[in-house]
Amino acid sequence: VSSVSQHALGGVVEVNEGAESVLLPCIYSDIQPEDPFLIWTRSDLSPNSVHLRRENGDDLKNQNQRFRNRTSMNPDALDTGNFSLTLRKPEQDDGGNYSCSISDGIKELNLKQIHLKVKELFPSWASALLVLLVLVLIVSAGVFYHFKDYFLKEQLPWVKVDSGVKFVLLPCRTKVCLPGGARVEWRDGENRTVHVYRNGSDDPEEQNLTYSNRTRMNDDPLKTKDLSLTLESPSVTDSGIYTCRVGNRVILMMKRVHLQVKAPLVKVDSGVKSVLLPCKTKLYLPGGARVEWRDGENRTVHVYPNGSDDPEEQNLTNSKRTRMNDDPLKTGDLSLTLEHPRFADSGIYTCRVSIWKRVILMKQVHLQVKGQWYKC
Ligand SMILES: *[C@@H]1O[C@H](CO)[C@@H](O)[C@H](O)[C@H]1NC(C)=O
Ligand SMILES: *[C@@H]1O[C@H](CO)[C@@H](O)[C@H](O)[C@H]1NC(C)=O
Ligand SMILES: *[C@@H]1O[C@H](CO)[C@@H](O)[C@H](O)[C@H]1NC(C)=O
Ligand SMILES: *[C@@H]1O[C@H](CO)[C@@H](O)[C@H](O)[C@H]1NC(C)=O
Ligand SMILES: *[C@@H]1O[C@H](CO)[C@@H](O)[C@H](O)[C@H]1NC(C)=O
Ligand SMILES: *[C@@H]1O[C@H](CO)[C@@H](O)[C@H](O)[C@H]1NC(C)=O
Ligand SMILES: *[C@@H]1O[C@H](CO)[C@@H](O)[C@H](O)[C@H]1NC(C)=O
Ligand SMILES: *[C@@H]1O[C@H](CO)[C@@H](O)[C@H](O)[C@H]1NC(C)=O
Ligand SMILES: *[C@@H]1O[C@H](CO)[C@@H](O)[C@H](O)[C@H]1NC(C)=O
Ligand SMILES: *[C@@H]1O[C@H](CO)[C@@H](O)[C@H](O)[C@H]1NC(C)=O
Repeated sequence: VSSVSQHALGGVVEVNEGAESVLLPCIYSDIQPEDPFLIWTRSDLSPNSVHLRRENGDDLKNQNQRFRNRTSMNPDALDTGNFSLTLRKPEQDDGGNYSCSISDGIKELNLKQIHLKVKELFPSWASALLVLLVLVLIVSAGVFYHFKDYFLKEQLPWVKVDSGVKFVLLPCRTKVCLPGGARVEWRDGENRTVHVYRNGSDDPEEQNLTYSNRTRMNDDPLKTKDLSLTLESPSVTDSGIYTCRVGNRVILMMKRVHLQVKAPLVKVDSGVKSVLLPCKTKLYLPGGARVEWRDGENRTVHVYPNGSDDPEEQNLTNSKRTRMNDDPLKTGDLSLTLEHPRFADSGIYTCRVSIWKRVILMKQVHLQVKGQWYKC
């Protein structure tokens, strides 16, 4: 194949790296040979074929792999003489000299030379800087992660209590001056509203049911700048991060506190005859009080005195796997014996004493039964 370089005017095409595509123009309006083929090449590559078009369509079996699926030419290129090549997703190393030629298999006529420049999205010094920055970030994130408990403990005050205390105080005091009408809002870790104080009084309507009748704040919190919250009968499930916030659209002040309510852990193997879930008190318990034990799913497990009005509870009480000592209200020992504990019995158990539907004592125990679901 002899090559004739004729009116092969050079051209420079510039494109940014990451562009969708770039067009390498090549227009030819002269007489074409019989049975022509049109070829785009890059002489510095091997194989040098970028795209080849025959009369019956593309012939890409000798195409250089790096251009696979990325080149195209108008379907009617040989009819119109528009031999321009579209190169998709140009990359840095696509930069180079492309030549557009037409041939009859013997003679090759070079129609156009295109010098393609693919500009770096980031100059290399910027990339180096970016890499450095990312490294610094990764290292500091690692350091933070490693010491995160230390950092978080430093920031968040912790309040730890045992389940069974009557109430717990979540502190929130400030030196910031707070306007009289400001809204105060306490939220829990699940973003539920715990307590709202606005227009100079508590607003129980906005509060989540979980916290109904269990929260209070001191009088005049905005004046005293003491927005601490009292939470009654704290339960293990109340554990989490609480946020105290003043302001509505504009946040004037925000503080967080980590509450942990602990319950004694009782561990047994599933083979044992019985397990004792402790619940003792020195409080005076009036004779008419009702004692109930509930499991982690809030199902009644045992009720004292025997013979609840609620048929559903009666049903459970009759399961006969649970018992309490005699005269629990007099002795103050409300502990529950659970016979043949199974793995599925594991969970948080709540011992609750109430009179006239008012809770006067609440304690919890974490039972963990090791072993299988069923024991033969
Ligand atoms: C890329 O090529 C493969 C086969 O080589 C083909 O199946 C696929 O459809 C092509 N993708 C595009 C976008 O042309
Ligand atoms: C040649 O074809 C390309 C791609 O289809 C098109 O963008 C361009 O406008 C055409 N040029 C002429 C002169 O028709
Ligand atoms: C492309 O051609 C120009 C002259 O037309 C030349 O200076 C340059 O070195 C060539 N580039 C490559 C990559 O061959
Ligand atoms: C919490 O809920 C309030 C009101 O429903 C909402 O405005 C706020 O964006 C929520 N915050 C988070 C962290 O989800
Ligand atoms: C709160 O107080 C403001 C001003 O005193 C009053 O405009 C607004 O209606 C009050 N909002 C409620 C819900 O009472
Ligand atoms: C209280 O919280 C529960 C659980 O997140 C949610 O399903 C319920 O809608 C909340 N109720 C109110 C009144 O916000
Ligand atoms: C809260 O107390 C009020 C008044 O004592 C009572 O009507 C209401 O049922 C209580 N709410 C809950 C969830 O116990
Ligand atoms: C458990 O159920 C009782 C009675 O249905 C209800 O008064 C109590 O609020 C429930 N406790 C929880 C934590 O859902
Ligand atoms: C509870 O009362 C029922 C009848 O009301 C009786 O059959 C059952 O033995 C009693 N259980 C205990 C533990 O006293
Ligand atoms: C009582 O227990 C039985 C068997 O466990 C159950 O089928 C029935 O629905 C229960 N009744 C009530 C009122 O919960």
